[in-house]
Order: sequence, then C-alpha cells, then structure tokens
Amino acid sequence: MLSIFAISLLALSAVGVSTRTARPTSPVVGAWYAGWHATEGFPLSSVSWKKYNTLYYSFAITTSSVDRLSLAGNNGDLLPRFVSDAHSYGVAAHVAVGGWLGSVWFSSSVATSENRTAFANTVAKFAHNYNIDGIHFDWEYPGRQGVGCNTISVDDTTNFLKFLQELRQNPIGANLTLSAAVSLAPFTDASGSPSTDVSGFAHVLDYIILRNFDVWGSLSEHVGPNAPLNDTCASSANQQGSAVSAIKAWTAAGMPVNQIVLGVDNSGHSYSVSPSAAFESGTKTLASYPAFDASKQPLGDAWDDTGSVDVCGVSHGPGGTFRFWGLIDGGFLTGEGTPADGIYYRYDECSQTPYVYNETSQVMISYDNLQSFAAKGKFIKETGLRGFTMREAAGDHLDMLLDSISSAI
Ligand SMILES: *[C@@H]1O[C@H](CO)[C@@H](O)[C@H](O)[C@H]1NC(C)=O
Ligand SMILES: *[C@@H]1O[C@H](CO)[C@@H](O)[C@H](O)[C@H]1NC(C)=O
Ligand SMILES: *[C@@H]1O[C@H](CO)[C@@H](O)[C@H](O)[C@H]1NC(C)=O
Ligand SMILES: *[C@@H]1O[C@H](CO)[C@@H](O)[C@H](O)[C@H]1NC(C)=O
Repeated sequence: MLSIFAISLLALSAVGVSTRTARPTSPVVGAWYAGWHATEGFPLSSVSWKKYNTLYYSFAITTSSVDRLSLAGNNGDLLPRFVSDAHSYGVAAHVAVGGWLGSVWFSSSVATSENRTAFANTVAKFAHNYNIDGIHFDWEYPGRQGVGCNTISVDDTTNFLKFLQELRQNPIGANLTLSAAVSLAPFTDASGSPSTDVSGFAHVLDYIILRNFDVWGSLSEHVGPNAPLNDTCASSANQQGSAVSAIKAWTAAGMPVNQIVLGVDNSGHSYSVSPSAAFESGTKTLASYPAFDASKQPLGDAWDDTGSVDVCGVSHGPGGTFRFWGLIDGGFLTGEGTPADGIYYRYDECSQTPYVYNETSQVMISYDNLQSFAAKGKFIKETGLRGFTMREAAGDHLDMLLDSISSAI
C-alpha cells in the first residue's frame, strides 16, 4: 500500500496538473478499463487514448471497513500509471467503485450518518491520493440483492443520496466528476419499486450511465437481445427494458436527458440452441426469441472462465461472454465484423441488435456490431443524451465499434 501511495505522488508531480490540457468531456466518449485484463493481453498501452475523453478504471471495491477501498484483484498497482497516461492525453481519469463483485459493503458503508461521513472522506482521500478526476459509483444495486451476499437495506437509495450529498460538501468531493452506473429502472425505493423522484440524484451527480446490457441472459426464458435499443415495438412478453424505455422511465422520475449517458457493450452473450428452435420452421431463417438449453451454457471467448467461485463462495460455470474480438476469433465473424461463411445471421429491427448462429456447434449469440453501434450513436444524438461509455475498452477489435458509434454521434 505504501509503495502504491509513493508511486502516485511521483506520478502526480511528474505529470502535474498544469502541463495537461484536458479535453472537453461532453458528450462523454468513454470506456470502462477492466484492471484485471491489464495482465491478460490489454495493457494500458493498448488503450486508444486519443479517441476517448473519459476512462473508468475498474474496480475499486468496497470493504468491510468504511475507511478503506481495495484494488485487490484489479491490478491496482497500475492505477497511478493509468492516471498519468490518461492525463498525458488530456483524458479524464475516473475510478469505478463497486461492480458486480465489489458492491458487498456499499449498503453498510452508507447506512448511518457516521458511516456516510467516514466513507465520503475515504472516497475523497482516495481520489486525491491518486489524482483522479472523477468517481463512478457502480453499486449493483441499491435496495436489491446483486451478487448474493451484499449488505442490503430498504433505505439504500435514500442513504446513497445522503452519502452523495455529503461527498459534495467535502472540498475534494465538490470538485470531482461524480457518476453512477444504473439499471434500466430508476433506483429501487423503500417499497421495492422503482423510485418516482430521482431529482435529488440529478443535483449531486454529474450524470448516470445506463447499464443497457445484460438485459437478456442465461436466466432469461428465451434467447433475447443483450443490449436492446428499443423494446416498445416488441410483444409485451418481450418488453424487458431497453434504452428507449429506460430513458423514458428515468426522465419521468426527474433525471434530465442530458445527464444520461448510454452504457453500451461490445460483448455478446451465447446460448445453446437446437436447430429446430433456432430456425423458423421449414426455413433457414433465424427465429426470434427461440428457446435455449440452460443446462448447456457454451464457453465464451478466451477470456471466459470455465468456472469460478464468487465473493460469496458460490461456484459458477462459464459465463458465455464473447467480446467483439472473440466473435472473430471464434469464427462467427470475419475480420471486418460481418458474419463468416456458414454462419447464420439475423438483425432484429426492434431491438436493433444482431444475432449469429453456428448450426454445428448449436451456439447462438446476441451481440452488437457496427450497424447496431451506429444505431445507438444516432439515438444518442437525436435524443440529446450525454454520450456513451463502452464496456469494456478491451473488448473491441481495431476500434471498429468505437469508431462506428463515435462517427454516428
Ligand atoms: C458502519 O460501518 C462499519 C464498518 O466500518 C460496519 O461494521 C457497520 O456495520 C456499519 N454500520 C451499519 C449500520 O451498517
Ligand atoms: C476545486 O477546483 C477549483 C477550480 O478548479 C480550485 O480552485 C480548487 O483549488 C479545487 N479544490 C480542491 C480541494 O482541489
Ligand atoms: C421504438 O419503437 C416504437 C414503436 O414501434 C417506435 O415508435 C419508436 O420510433 C422506436 N424508437 C427507436 C429509437 O427506435
Ligand atoms: C461451427 O462449429 C463447428 C463445431 O464447433 C466448427 O467446427 C466450425 O468451424 C464452426 N463454423 C464456423 C463457420 O466457424
């Protein structure tokens, strides 16, 4: 810990606030940088710094003590370098706090007035020590259980707001760019329903980032879009949320549209689908929302785990995630991002997302491509959203998706 601190002070004096010309950060052109992938083939030098204005180092995780955030498991020794590299390109360096595995202690950290004060100081000190421009709260999820062993309270959303208000009172916190990753439905209130008034959050957060992905997945009843742009055009059973419905819900609850950043995903989710379910009967046209065999989760790309034990001690099989480069590696797409020979393809006009299917391996994947990213970019522009943040910097192939969405905006 001491050595990390020393490096960060060095980084601070070496780069220096005065030598950097920060780029405008609106609209947000951002990506999450997954610290754990830094040593799996995506070092900091692989980041296309010139194409972004904001990067979010992921994750600093909550701990059982309000006095400490931890970078364990996320190559935290790289954080000072991340910040100085970002600053040398005029890019805002943010740190994402929490994540799926790192939200265990959020609820207890903001549960009492005493804890909120201590946790606000912890976050402010952390930001100051590492010379960070912004803190991105990725609490999954206030008032709802996430990974399975999170501390949780019906007052989470209220306490989260009080905590953010306190952080804004802190002289360091006042200057930070603050954002939160959020579900498609507004924060869960004390009754367990989506909040009807989130205007308090709009005052203390610079923006929210909609997690417009993982909408359909292994726990769904059918194959469906991972990251639907729209769902109001789908049958009512298939309206599980989308960018369109989420923006409607959040703005109705008081979040201004220009404080909403669209979270986009360059990875897809795989399912095991038999040919009889995959095709419309008697044809080779891919069916929409087919049934899948939940007992056979296909292994995803080279970064997928064959199995792991989570922070709650529960074992999981493969996740089935294919990053965009993984779809190319796996033979589903060509190097240009188009369907490979022998692969069946469908572009769903309602969700505006594509599917690919390999009949031999019986693997179907819902993902995003250049066309769907261009559609999302156009939507961001036409709706007046604050920009986009991509999961994750390491998932693209030759910046094809990044370039597609950026040029559409
Ligand atoms: C306040 O934080 C401490 C850890 O620093 C924790 O042990 C305690 O349970 C928290 N209080 C509540 C009410 O959750
Ligand atoms: C906050 O930002 C203002 C304006 O950039 C600056 O003058 C001030 O020193 C900053 N405060 C802290 C605590 O960094
Ligand atoms: C979403 O679907 C509805 C209903 O078909 C349509 O009116 C609307 O234009 C669509 N919005 C987008 C952004 O595709
Ligand atoms: C489809 O899957 C089979 C079995 O895994 C594999 O041998 C074949 O190469 C795949 N097809 C394509 C076009 O990648």
